Amino acid sequence: MKPMEGIPRCSFGHFPTPLHCFGDDRTLRVKRDDLAGFAWAGNKTRPLEFLMGEAREQGASCVVSGGMSTSNFIAALALAACREGLRCHLLVPGPVEATTSIRMARLAGARVEEVSTPREHLDEAIAIRAAELSAEGIATYPIPRGGAAATGALGFAVAAHELQQQLISLGSSIADPVTVVIPVGSGASIAGLLAGTALVGAPFRIVGVSVSRAPDDVEPMVTRLAGMVLSRLGADASSLESCDVSVLDGRRPLEREDMRRVATALACRGLLVDDHYGLPAWLVAEELASEQEPVVVWHTGGMAGVPHVLAEVQR
Ligand SMILES: Cc1ncc(COP(=O)(O)O)c(C=O)c1O
Repeated sequence: MKPMEGIPRCSFGHFPTPLHCFGDDRTLRVKRDDLAGFAWAGNKTRPLEFLMGEAREQGASCVVSGGMSTSNFIAALALAACREGLRCHLLVPGPVEATTSIRMARLAGARVEEVSTPREHLDEAIAIRAAELSAEGIATYPIPRGGAAATGALGFAVAAHELQQQLISLGSSIADPVTVVIPVGSGASIAGLLAGTALVGAPFRIVGVSVSRAPDDVEPMVTRLAGMVLSRLGADASSLESCDVSVLDGRRPLEREDMRRVATALACRGLLVDDHYGLPAWLVAEELASEQEPVVVWHTGGMAGVPHVLAEVQR
């Protein structure tokens, strides 16, 4: 993908991630970012390659970001920073819990600072802490929650091209419509995917499943971030107008029976999902695949949440 040439990037994952059929069902395919190959970073491997590439290019010796105690992103960032020899400072709204993510971040040597800032204002707190560290002479690179910056979203712009190539190699025509279902947290992944879809002109109908915020709050942010990605690549943001993107509400509590049914069906095909991101997206993908075809569901990882699903379905 030409426009990415010259953009600094670290290499953490194994790409392309596989695109598997869901059993014998050719209408439902799974994009296996759970197999991205960098610890349990899953989909977050993609933005981290560009964010850490830029941090290194700018000569940073420290990265600052933040998230809730359960954030997969903060754990993945801590590991990436450790691998690149950078310090990692994380702001976590209190009380900080001893989650797998926090344990992984600490294992990687990150400094975990408990803050009273609510999640919605964490990005401002990250910018302030980064400015303070820079004023102390520590070259600091701030990263918004979830990696939701244009640089981070570049990772999923590449992924749109990756998926398009895989579908073509499976015999799809470049014009065949495909519905792509992806869980949405910070919005970095779907925004990048949208920008990449516009860039390569793929006929993807993108359906986001928002797990933490109302769709009406997420949609404008996603379009704005996608526009920033295209500008960054010197492409025309008006190409977004022809893209088909929608965000559904994935915040409703899951019925234990749905959880059990989907988790069992997936486990029998060698797939494990969490209940925060994975299961809500699967439920939507399942429904869409029964109505229209074909559907690709993006398996974004979330391995730290799998034990919770196992405990819930066996309660
Ligand atoms: C497993 C998993 N899936 C999906 C997402 C959502 O990605 P984004 O924050 O880019 O919307 C996250 C975010 O942390 C995640 O950890």
